Amino acid sequence: MIEQVPAVITAEKLRKEFGRVVALRGVSFQVPASTFFTIFGRNGAGKSTLLSIISGMAAASSGVIRVFGEDPAARTQRHRLSVISHESFLYDNLTALENLEFYGKLYSVQDLKERTHHVLRQVGLHHRRFDLVRTFSRGMLQRLTIARAILHNPDLFLLDEPFTGLDQHATEMLIGLLETLKAQGKTILLTTHDLHIGLRLSDQYMILERQQVVETGSASGLTEDALREKYFSLISSGEAGQ
Ligand SMILES: Nc1ncnc2c1ncn2[C@@H]1O[C@H](COP(=O)(O)OP(=O)(O)OP(=O)(O)O)[C@@H](O)[C@H]1O
Ligand SMILES: [Mg+2]
Repeated sequence: MIEQVPAVITAEKLRKEFGRVVALRGVSFQVPASTFFTIFGRNGAGKSTLLSIISGMAAASSGVIRVFGEDPAARTQRHRLSVISHESFLYDNLTALENLEFYGKLYSVQDLKERTHHVLRQVGLHHRRFDLVRTFSRGMLQRLTIARAILHNPDLFLLDEPFTGLDQHATEMLIGLLETLKAQGKTILLTTHDLHIGLRLSDQYMILERQQVVETGSASGLTEDALREKYFSLISSGEAGQ
């Protein structure tokens, strides 16, 4: 008998409307546990909207979303997931260290002192730990956002364009970190425009176009050229958000 891997995320016919704008038109897919799942799609395809529904920050207009078997809006499984998105969820008037201590207490992180220092070193910000977040550059903010996201060792990572603003060094750091998390059996959902990085990390991928799923598949054995050809044959070259 083939053992079924339970799905960490299940979406059925998700629809989201903002007034007259439709952001998702019936999106269905599953992400099995311990899978690195990448969503590709151009500007306005609906990627961020989908991630905010999965994280419980926004409600779908209709359809069903389950994360760890529950409605994410209930937030009972909040401690098991982490989000990296355009919002940093950091406090400007606290230092980098104070921000992590705040989140660590919120999530009852064990050995918090060692853990904060460890993650600050991992993202290359330890030497700036006493500086206020409002003095940070965009890339430094993104590095601290990554530190916050890994601090409480969650099972599921929702990453919306996490490479935005990172320099080459930090990009490699994040790729290495994601490879480590993947090896630890974490479930990772990534959105990116970068076909190269997305394919390099993924087990499975999905392409969103015009707010619908137009392709899902296994990334294993798929070359970047084949993915690129598939991607550009499926997406239209029209305006954003179409
Ligand atoms: N808060 C909002 N109010 C109104 N419209 C919205 C809102 N959020 C998203 N939309 C619309 O929903 C559609 C999907 O947007 P979304 O941000 O999910 O796309 P995306 O795939 O993340 O794009 P990008 O690659 O640019 O980040 C777009 O047409 C967008 O204008
Ligand atoms: Mg987006």
